[in-house]
Parts: sequence; structure tokens; C-alpha cells
Amino acid sequence: MIIVYESKTGFTKKYADMLAAKTGFKAYSVKNFANAGLYDEITFLGWMKAGSIQGLSKIRKSRIVAVCGSGTARTAEPSPEEVATRNKIMGLPFFYLRGGCFPLSELKGMDKLLMTFFLKMLKKRKDKDEELEESISTIEFGYDGVKEENLEPVLAWISAR
Ligand SMILES: Cc1cc2nc3c(=O)[nH]c(=O)nc-3n(C[C@H](O)[C@H](O)[C@H](O)COP(=O)(O)O)c2cc1C
Repeated sequence: MIIVYESKTGFTKKYADMLAAKTGFKAYSVKNFANAGLYDEITFLGWMKAGSIQGLSKIRKSRIVAVCGSGTARTAEPSPEEVATRNKIMGLPFFYLRGGCFPLSELKGMDKLLMTFFLKMLKKRKDKDEELEESISTIEFGYDGVKEENLEPVLAWISAR
């Protein structure tokens, strides 16, 4: 088994490196994966952008056996079922990993535009609960949710194979 990941700002890479250290599997970014064995089984980790797991489409033809999506919400947003359908990974184990983000003021280009729009939408909502307030603060001020313990379900799945 090998680990392949797509990470834009480094949070997903941290999980990929942690998983590599815990399992002894090698971790490759999607960009460097071309040099890895074509026949290896792959646990894929990608950051999520509007529910879409980034990097996955670039390695679809490889032997992906499990997928992890990293996002900033407490639990998968959209739901794991919705993520599986949208990313066409139904039937594969999917693990949500809480990643992180930089403050909105540090984002650039399209990402900044999208997150500004998303933030406005969240702020307009009348049904604000604690989780929603947390999402707002996360986007405005940044957040690092990467923790080793979040990998426990992935490690349990790997060792049960
Ligand atoms: C434009 C944009 C869209 C995002 N969409 C989602 C999303 O749909 N669900 C989610 O949980 N996180 C979403 N995020 C948060 C990132 O997935 C999260 O910050 C991730 O951990 C970043 O990983 P990276 O540092 O490896 O790039 C989005 C972030 C950006 C900038």
C-alpha cells in the first residue's frame, strides 16, 4: 500500500505524513505519484473544495482502496454519503479528517472569492447554532484541526485488512 495526497495549504499533507510515519507506507503527492509503482494499492487523501475531493480525478485509473477527505468542518460537510456520490467513490471506505485553513485575509484569487461568498451566506443564516458560529470564526480567523487521533479510524481499517 502507498499513500497519495493532494494538499494546497499543507493540512492534508500533515495527515499524509503522519499516516506514513504510523504505517511505514510511502507518501507521494499526486504530482510525484507518476514515479511510484502503478500496481500499488492506494489510500488517497485530498482536501475538499465545495464537496469535491481535490486530486482524485487525476489518479482515478489507479488502484484506490480508501479515500480520506480533509475539510474544516467538525464533521464532513457535505455528509459522507453526499461526498461519496459527488466524487463517485461509493463502495470505497471514506474517512473524513478535520484539516484546517488560513484566515480569509491570507487567501488569494478564486479561493478567497468563494470563501467570502460562503462566509456571507453563513452570516445571513438566522438559525445560527454553536457549530455554525464556529464555522464562521474558522473562516475568518483560520484554524488548525490536524490531530493524530483523527487518523485512528483509518489506522483501524488498515490494520483490519
Ligand atoms: C474554496 C474552498 C472551498 C472549500 N470547501 C470545503 C468543503 O466543501 N468542505 C469542507 O469541509 N471544507 C472545505 N474547505 C476547507 C478545506 O478543505 C480545508 O481547509 C482543508 O483542510 C485544506 O487542506 P490543505 O491544507 O491540504 O489544502 C474549502 C476551502 C476552500 C478554500
